[in-house]
Amino acid sequence: MNRRNFLAGTLGAAGASLIGAPDAFSFASLPAPSPSSPAGSYGAQFPDGFLWGMATASYQVEGAWNEDGKGESIWDRWAHTQGHIKGGDTGDEACDHYHRYAEDIAILKQLNQKSYRFSISWPRIQPAGPGAPNQRGLDHYKRVMDAVHEAGIRPFCTLYHWDLPQWCEDKGGWPNRDMAGWFADYAGIVAKELGDRITVYAAFNMPWAFTYYGYGIGIHPPGRAKLGDFFKALHTVALAQGESFRSIKAASTHATVGSAYSMAPGYPKTDSEADRAATARYHAMNNTFFLNAALKGEYPNAFVDSSARDQAFTLMGVRAGDDKLLRAPLDWVGFHYYTRRVVSDASGTKRAAQQYGTETESDTGNVNGRDPFTRFHAVMPTEGPLTHAGLEIYPRGMYDLVTQISREYGQPVIEITECGCCYMDGPYEKEGGRIPDPRRIEFFRGVLTELARAIQDGARVRAFHAWSLLDNFEWTDGYSQRYGLTWVDYRDQKRTVKDSGRWYAELAATNRVS
Ligand code: FCB
Repeated sequence: MNRRNFLAGTLGAAGASLIGAPDAFSFASLPAPSPSSPAGSYGAQFPDGFLWGMATASYQVEGAWNEDGKGESIWDRWAHTQGHIKGGDTGDEACDHYHRYAEDIAILKQLNQKSYRFSISWPRIQPAGPGAPNQRGLDHYKRVMDAVHEAGIRPFCTLYHWDLPQWCEDKGGWPNRDMAGWFADYAGIVAKELGDRITVYAAFNMPWAFTYYGYGIGIHPPGRAKLGDFFKALHTVALAQGESFRSIKAASTHATVGSAYSMAPGYPKTDSEADRAATARYHAMNNTFFLNAALKGEYPNAFVDSSARDQAFTLMGVRAGDDKLLRAPLDWVGFHYYTRRVVSDASGTKRAAQQYGTETESDTGNVNGRDPFTRFHAVMPTEGPLTHAGLEIYPRGMYDLVTQISREYGQPVIEITECGCCYMDGPYEKEGGRIPDPRRIEFFRGVLTELARAIQDGARVRAFHAWSLLDNFEWTDGYSQRYGLTWVDYRDQKRTVKDSGRWYAELAATNRVS
């Protein structure tokens, strides 16, 4: 995604044993916690058994949008409508991963990967409505999982990476509370049918982002822009997180359930009390809203005062007793790291609830808080170098975020579910078609040195997934952004591992940042 989309997303216990997991991770191999030492030099060492992995998402790579009984998703509908995606691109074919998964899993193996984070396309499983699943959709994922296991890789299944079945949207989409039950049923079907092959599940990819983009500001499907819809969607998704936790556990005794949240550490703009309080609200809203709901059965305090909180809860449709439904003792905590935010207080600005419009915060122009309840202003700074997508590179943020979450939630087991950067480097003829992408290598060096330091200081991180295995369909940016460690030529679907992919393979083999 580009800078604007990333920015728009900023509103204001160890698991059971992993069946088939290679080299079970042992915390005994971690060095004893030591005082923090500054990063800067490379050579950071990761613990034995650390799970190096790569991530993809169904709509971004699969293609085959209408094969084997698959139903339409909101992303199909959105991309098929003129004017939504840069260049008129669609995910109809994407990387053709649906047919080429064996080749792609062979790349993972060749790159010494131990974990593959992928997502299941819900409309392949329930194409037209709730109830009985589409066997051909299930069979596809069974074949993929078999190939993943054969390669000695642990499958990490995300149940929802944004490709909502269109039939769900036709019934009101995420603002409709009934969605929680439909989602839990779907999750239970997957866990029952694939439970012999998958033990690691995350319900949602970036719940903040897809509710806000899709219902708050309408830059993603279904394209609605209404504060009330957004707030209702938030609560339904949090309920669905809890309900699916229970349906997965009921369907598969081997299942471990975690998350794949988007998080960006917040830094107060000034040292003032007001900016520090605003940063705390930002953190609660953007980083830990769903995590807190799961682990503690309540939303964290993201609101300016109790009356703002009450108004927000009314909009969300929170009912007495919902705390029990929200609660889900996640086995491990997963989150992405891309960049950071600088946060200031926006409570001085005069905006009443009913004046809320569709505008997003941005680093130019609008200095209002995102909404009348949280009243913070978060910007993506430009002090460090920017990636091709305009995201600031800030390696230190990885250390700060991981140690903050570790501290706040009692040292949970952590998986980094995504981390990566967009650069357009392509095949270089003079070097035989090799793809030198030194800036991506430098990006990973920086963040991984900081991650190693967090582990050194006691954080219980067991996995890291680079985004992404392949260049792919980058949402509204279409194919105009490349995050892959493997280049994809979309004319003939040829894959070429970039230099960063080779570098990452060596890291995975040695556990050492070179
Ligand atoms: C993350 C999304 C992923 C991809 C990367 C660049 O926020 O989860 O699908 O778009 O950004």
